[in-house]
Amino acid sequence: MPEADSSKKKKQYYEDIPMERHGFFLKGSSALDWGMKNRLSRIFNPESGRTVMLAIDHGYFQGPTTGLERIDLSVVPIMPYADALMMTRGILRTTVPPSLTKPIVMRCSGGPSILKELSNEELAVDIEDAIRMNVAAITLQVFIGGEYETRSVHNMTKLVDMGLRYGIPTMAVTAVGKDMVRDAKYFRLACRICAELGAQIVKTYYVPEDFGTVTASCPVPIVMAGGKKMAELDALTMAYNAVQQGAAGVDMGRNIFQSDAPKAMIQAISKLVHENLKPEEAYELYQELKKHE
Ligand code: R5P
Repeated sequence: MPEADSSKKKKQYYEDIPMERHGFFLKGSSALDWGMKNRLSRIFNPESGRTVMLAIDHGYFQGPTTGLERIDLSVVPIMPYADALMMTRGILRTTVPPSLTKPIVMRCSGGPSILKELSNEELAVDIEDAIRMNVAAITLQVFIGGEYETRSVHNMTKLVDMGLRYGIPTMAVTAVGKDMVRDAKYFRLACRICAELGAQIVKTYYVPEDFGTVTASCPVPIVMAGGKKMAELDALTMAYNAVQQGAAGVDMGRNIFQSDAPKAMIQAISKLVHENLKPEEAYELYQELKKHE
């Protein structure tokens, strides 16, 4: 039996102060459950509403691609500068120190290598293992217009259902086939399908024309994928344009880990994403930080 409340202090019920109703800062997420919102708040900074996610999951179909040959040596040191980390369970378990408390967005699809048809993916992680590894979100590719479009969409709806069961958000990545047109019309279609079918976050590519229509017509947060390595100022300009046109941050890989100075680059991107630094200002910061790398 608990002890009786014997305090002589007058009880305070503050009857005249209504209890605060906490709104939620992320687009389309107000109706989600507490655990899901809490995980999203670890990925997206509640102050800026944005994230800088570092994507290093490329090995799941590409093997040891340039910059990711030795993740322990080249990438683990820059992890503290990211808001969230996207990777496979294999790299997480073997290479990332469990003392690192950054939110993990776990790659949960796989199957074909770069030698085969990439859209022929299946779910490749049991939700129990994702929970065991304390992930903040789960993720997979969705191949709209691809050869195995329906399979990849159904992979996503299954992952969304598993995530909803345990309060774990799903990030859908719009994967574009080699010969497909990458324009706003395509990305509006792909992103909207992912959100309509339940994804809580969508990752997609930037397009120079009408990217704002892609973010506007998607009812959940969009994070911009980086794509092929380009010059640092170009990558910073693309990230700036994406967030100014409604992206809730970036999920970049090669433009960070293949940069001459990855630590400087991720810090410059972070300032640009969270503090709206102009691309030229972020580039200046990159050059300054690069001197010490
Ligand atoms: C590729 O399929 C992976 O999902 C990557 O995470 C994604 O492409 C982002 O990396 P990058 O910025 O290098 O394109």
